[in-house]
Amino acid sequence: MKAIQFSQYGKANVLEIKDVKIPTINAGQILVQVKAFGINPIDWKLRSGAIKAFIPLPLPFILGSEVSGIVMKVSDDVKHIKVGDNVYGRTQHAYAEYVSMDADKTQIIPAFLNFAEAASLPSGSQVAYSALKTMGNIQKNQKVLIHAGAGGVGTAAIQIAKYFGAHVTTTVSTSNIHLAKQLGADEIIDYRATSITTLEKDFDLILDSVGGQTQIDSWDLLKENGTLVSLVSDESAQFSPALNKEFHFMRGVQGNPFEVVNQLISARKIKPTIDQVYDFNDIAAAHIKSETGHVSGKLVIVI
Ligand SMILES: NC(=O)c1ccc[n+]([C@@H]2O[C@H](COP(=O)([O-])OP(=O)(O)OC[C@H]3O[C@@H](n4cnc5c(N)ncnc54)[C@H](OP(=O)(O)O)[C@@H]3O)[C@@H](O)[C@H]2O)c1
Repeated sequence: MKAIQFSQYGKANVLEIKDVKIPTINAGQILVQVKAFGINPIDWKLRSGAIKAFIPLPLPFILGSEVSGIVMKVSDDVKHIKVGDNVYGRTQHAYAEYVSMDADKTQIIPAFLNFAEAASLPSGSQVAYSALKTMGNIQKNQKVLIHAGAGGVGTAAIQIAKYFGAHVTTTVSTSNIHLAKQLGADEIIDYRATSITTLEKDFDLILDSVGGQTQIDSWDLLKENGTLVSLVSDESAQFSPALNKEFHFMRGVQGNPFEVVNQLISARKIKPTIDQVYDFNDIAAAHIKSETGHVSGKLVIVI
């Protein structure tokens, strides 16, 4: 099969299409013919070598953590998925024509989603659910601030926070104001025109996927006993006890929220937001776009 791999850390041009063996499956797994996969910032962070001290990779390496496709083989112990089903979920090594997946992290694609839309959903929506519900314990009528509401995580987070009945403020750049409105945000801050330090200081929960000064400024916007969940760093965690405010640095999806997230997707409470769809051969262009840090929704590769 064809797979996109890299044999050395570096820029997007280290990604190469190679012939490799089709993966084998173990107990609890299925083999999926890949129809689409999503691109996430972790992909180019891993590819560049920027985080190799924390997450060293065996090279050559095939990236890719979310996928959709058609089931080709099923391990004997898997009962809820059969050959021929259209499925989606989180996995590893999705930049390929075939991928093995854990059946318990895989779901049938709701009939109204195409493969590209389905592949765009698992990562951002499960991360957003974990951050808001599992870590942030979001509650009805709370005031929630979602930084970077236009990103892969942010677009899902706005919809999930609205599902839980929160009042949602989000930060975006000018071109994404309309998108944030469509997703249901109650208040939209153009972060380039308005400093977040001018916002009312009464948030119950803040989701930070930006870090740096944005994270530092967020402390002051939280109520006493409020919670700051960061996806990017714990650089200002030391402020937490003194301010009597809670801090979580979330690394990866917590638990396996895909069943509950799949219910929200099936009920159209979380809808896909796709910025751009690329061909398999255009992987370098997709990485270069993701590295700009200004994707509106998700980038997806179709095969
Ligand atoms: N720890 C974890 O478990 C975990 C999981 C997933 C993601 N992450 C991390 O979280 C970050 C976001 O991920 P993602 O998938 O959402 O990225 P993404 O899809 O690339 O989106 C990034 C978004 O950030 C917005 N943005 C950039 N600078 C901003 C600022 N100063 N204020 C507000 N918005 C800003 C951009 O929107 P505009 O064009 O409107 O500026 C863009 O839509 C990445 O660093 C990723 O690695 C961590």
